Amino acid sequence: MSWLVYLFFLHLITLYNSYVAEYTSAYPETGSDFGILPDRSNRVEDIYLRFYNGNSATEYVDIPLSQASQILDTKGFNKNNPTVLYFHGFIETAQQESVQVVANAYLEAKPDTNVVLLDWSNMSHGSYLVNAVGNTKKVGITTAEHLKTLLDSGLLLDKLHLIGHSLGSHVAGYTARELKNKYNKIIKRVTALDPAFPAFYPDGVVMEHINEKDAEFVDVIHTDAGGYGAPVRTGTVDFWPNGGKSVQPGCPRFAPIPLTDDNLCSHWRSWRFYAESVRNPEAFPASPASSYQKFRENPTPEVGMIYMGINCDTSARGSYYLTTNSKPPFGKGVDGLYPKGKKNVVKNSK
Ligand SMILES: *[C@@H]1O[C@H](CO)[C@@H](O)[C@H](O)[C@H]1NC(C)=O
Repeated sequence: MSWLVYLFFLHLITLYNSYVAEYTSAYPETGSDFGILPDRSNRVEDIYLRFYNGNSATEYVDIPLSQASQILDTKGFNKNNPTVLYFHGFIETAQQESVQVVANAYLEAKPDTNVVLLDWSNMSHGSYLVNAVGNTKKVGITTAEHLKTLLDSGLLLDKLHLIGHSLGSHVAGYTARELKNKYNKIIKRVTALDPAFPAFYPDGVVMEHINEKDAEFVDVIHTDAGGYGAPVRTGTVDFWPNGGKSVQPGCPRFAPIPLTDDNLCSHWRSWRFYAESVRNPEAFPASPASSYQKFRENPTPEVGMIYMGINCDTSARGSYYLTTNSKPPFGKGVDGLYPKGKKNVVKNSK
């Protein structure tokens, strides 16, 4: 029932947005009043690869996506090393904290990684439903085409890891799907950090969401499930820290204004957790369970545990749960498997 209500509202919003888009293209000068028309160029020609070739995200080289192969000859790029390609989210840019935090984690803790951002910022702007959502597919298909050339020029497919946040998760999904279906190149791993919910669930009604078939292995970290983030399992392995929903520990309980930092706090925990795992791969042990409740009641959560984040066991399947701290460092190690406190569990079992 709640799905029907959701779809009904999605439909209303889409109708409203297309009405506004039509009106504002007929009367362009009113566009900014609605704040809904793309305020930036909206072309696949304006997508860039930003290769971070120093020790921090302040040092980089921008390469137009259409000339992707140039990256192989760029100083600092070593094609024998793993390459991480990060996809930012809705109305984000390279300056965004999510990009900086994830890039810096790799550059400092994993210097033998080629760290690259897919900068689709101009196409991620404008109205969410009218512009950005539909662009995820366009950007994915274009990215796949140029990655194919890059792979043919010597980039190693087996060492390429796509990581996306929110709307960027679905761009990564479309990229991997196109590489697989059109070019027969299967990406080893895609990591989705709280993949965006609106318009992508249920699958295929408006858009297709990232899923386990897009790559050999798809790991998902849910931190605002049913809010900005996907409401249901989406990958080969899904992690549900603190139950996977808002309000995540340490985030404000009352933050009603959409898209403010406070309002996005739980959604953003996904990349904060992931970035911390890059620096400390064993920070987030997680336990297999069919629900948060079952996890909390499990007297032996260490059985079958794997790590959430960079060192995720790629043979794992299903849902995993854990708890975190409310501020950095978020990882509690093995203590994160005992939400009620480890000592209590021992006492109760006597
Ligand atoms: C993004 O759009 C703005 C405004 O149209 C434009 O000035 C800028 O050059 C565009 N950026 C890129 C990378 O093309």
